[in-house]
Amino acid sequence: MTKILLTGATGYIGSHTWLALVDAGFEVVGVDDFSNSAPAVLPRIARLSGREPVFERLDVGDTAALSALVARERIDAAVHFAASKAVGESMEQPLAYFRNNLGGLISTAQALQANGVHCFVFSSSATVYGTPEALPIPESAPLSTANPYGLTKLHGEQLLRELERCDPRWRIAYLRYFNPVGAHESGDIGEDPRGTPNNLMPYVAQVAIGRRERLQVFGGDYPTPDGTGVRDYVHVMDLAEGHVAALRRLLDGADSMTVNLGTGRGHSVLEVVRAYERASGRRVPYDIAPRRPGDVAACYADVGLAARLLGWRARRDLAAMCEDSWRWQSKNPQGYA
Ligand code: WQD
Repeated sequence: MTKILLTGATGYIGSHTWLALVDAGFEVVGVDDFSNSAPAVLPRIARLSGREPVFERLDVGDTAALSALVARERIDAAVHFAASKAVGESMEQPLAYFRNNLGGLISTAQALQANGVHCFVFSSSATVYGTPEALPIPESAPLSTANPYGLTKLHGEQLLRELERCDPRWRIAYLRYFNPVGAHESGDIGEDPRGTPNNLMPYVAQVAIGRRERLQVFGGDYPTPDGTGVRDYVHVMDLAEGHVAALRRLLDGADSMTVNLGTGRGHSVLEVVRAYERASGRRVPYDIAPRRPGDVAACYADVGLAARLLGWRARRDLAAMCEDSWRWQSKNPQGYA
């Protein structure tokens, strides 16, 4: 069986991709340092996947340890999720973000290269598009970033493209995520941000379950149908299945590819609030607050390339995203704690 290394394996997207890979017949070796995830994920992966997880706690910045694991486990390909991902935090700690995200990427690539592994999936982000000039956003759109987190994704891509140019053995899928939300249908794994959630849906979920009083809607005067921000929310299991499709193409010998992973549809903040109220049967009270610095009015993906290159399209709609998020939140009111 083909064996896949997942870095950041117990994180939100990593844990869901773990299940999708096992479901698709791959063997998985997970690594994580638990800096932004919980060990409690592992027994749930065991129960949901029906097999004991192969996992090692390590910092991907420890190249020697990671290289030894890649050699021992005879890894065929890797998906690199391990990175810090909070925009606001990145502006408070830019150097920590550069070191962790870019240093971790370089170290992971070194560990793979040392063992002759050149098949690589990089977790990138729609944040590399900055303020879009046109919608939907194609992969050919101009790239720019306005915060250190976004810069690490943009420079991560550039660093890997240069690596490919110098060493054509590398074949890399650059997957640009739009807004991942939701949870596995079991409700046993899901998004569990530490502290106050930066992102919309986990915050809405915590209001619905009663952990928080009210949602602050950041801006009601955007040039959008209802004045609130529009985003391309994509179900985390669709996203996970997109990674499986990309790995299959690379392992079949496909060339490197850069692909948007989104639905191609935008929803406003208030549409998400109403969908969540319908899914949960709970009220989500909110106030219209000032715009959040750095936010764009609207952002959603051109998904044509994902369909053509990966044979992948997102299948789950906003109602399913909210229903699955609510099942996770109501079964785990305090997350994994
Ligand atoms: C969505 C919409 C907010 C919270 C960021 C990163 C991106 C990726 C996903 C990591 C916006 C509004 C939010 C709240 C609100 N992260 N909002 N009240 O900013 O599109 O993308 O997260 O990979 O790289 O940039 O996502 O969920 O923070 O915001 O009104 O309490 O919800 O203004 O319109 P965003 P988000």
